[in-house]
Amino acid sequence: MSLHGKVAVVTGSGRGLGLAYAQELARQGASVVINDVDAATADAAVKSITDAGGAAVAVVAPVGPTETAEQLVQTAVDTFGRLDILVTNAGVLRDTVLWKMSDDDFDTVIGVHLRGTFTCVRAAATYMRANEIAGRIICIGSPTGQRGNFGQTNYAAAKAGIVGMVRTWALELKKAGITANAVIPVAATAMTATVPYFAAAVEADEKGEPMPAFFRHDLGFGTSDDVAGLIAFLASDAASGVSGQAIGIGGDRLQLWSHPEAVATAYREGGWTYDALVEGFGDAVGELQSVGEKFPPLPEDLQR
Ligand SMILES: NC(=O)c1ccc[n+]([C@@H]2O[C@H](COP(=O)([O-])OP(=O)(O)OC[C@H]3O[C@@H](n4cnc5c(N)ncnc54)[C@H](O)[C@@H]3O)[C@@H](O)[C@H]2O)c1
Repeated sequence: MSLHGKVAVVTGSGRGLGLAYAQELARQGASVVINDVDAATADAAVKSITDAGGAAVAVVAPVGPTETAEQLVQTAVDTFGRLDILVTNAGVLRDTVLWKMSDDDFDTVIGVHLRGTFTCVRAAATYMRANEIAGRIICIGSPTGQRGNFGQTNYAAAKAGIVGMVRTWALELKKAGITANAVIPVAATAMTATVPYFAAAVEADEKGEPMPAFFRHDLGFGTSDDVAGLIAFLASDAASGVSGQAIGIGGDRLQLWSHPEAVATAYREGGWTYDALVEGFGDAVGELQSVGEKFPPLPEDLQR
């Protein structure tokens, strides 16, 4: 098994994608620290791994505060002797349009996703550097962070911020041999179950039926297990040369996202004054960039 002897922490791994990641890491031989705010789901997740012959332990604590991050690292070390892999996956949504978004909606989502990723990666990287472990940092982004999405100001900020931090960590941790990557998943979970566009796919999944090819292929929308293989790959020695990347996965689809680059560059001697921009902005920059995700029309038989 490729991850035999390795130890992983997966945040928010009581259910959904995090559970699939933890189970796949365990299948590949890693011992896993499960984390969730919900004790019952965390315990069930541990049981699912130990029943299958793997090793797991639960930490029931909210990701965000530094204390939880330190507890996660300490539990990995105390229980399994070391920490090699961190997957920052815990997440919540508080969706609403900008003008209805409260301070609490914003702070909650930023606290779990952005601050939670920062505090957990800081604790794990500090431990890995001190113990000369060429570890793996895998942070979970979202198409919303890459493209923006109506009603998700807080989530877009957090997820774009996570990819920004990953680029920085790839630079800062390179010398220690630690890789840092972002995974941009799409899958049928509690988080996507209520999106009407995905209803037919979620319905098929719940019945244990295969998801229609339109979802798996055209939209890259499948099950949590479809995402888990990439997590184990990035955690393995086979991916030691992969760092600083944002990798999209879902259903039958694998994608490498580009990082922002200037797509048009124009020079004007003396600089770009207001008048010069009014006169020449369009010609100087060319076609403007699009925002938001573009979905193809849903075939009639898949409309619900
Ligand atoms: N499902 C998708 O298509 C999709 C797409 C893009 C990104 N994501 C991201 O993937 C991750 C997992 O999403 P999911 O779809 O499995 O959602 P989910 O709601 O099924 O699972 C999230 C888990 O995180 C736990 N959690 C919430 N707050 C926590 C905290 N403060 N500390 C610890 N655990 C906490 C929840 O209890 C839950 O078990 C999230 O970061 C999400 O933003 C999901």
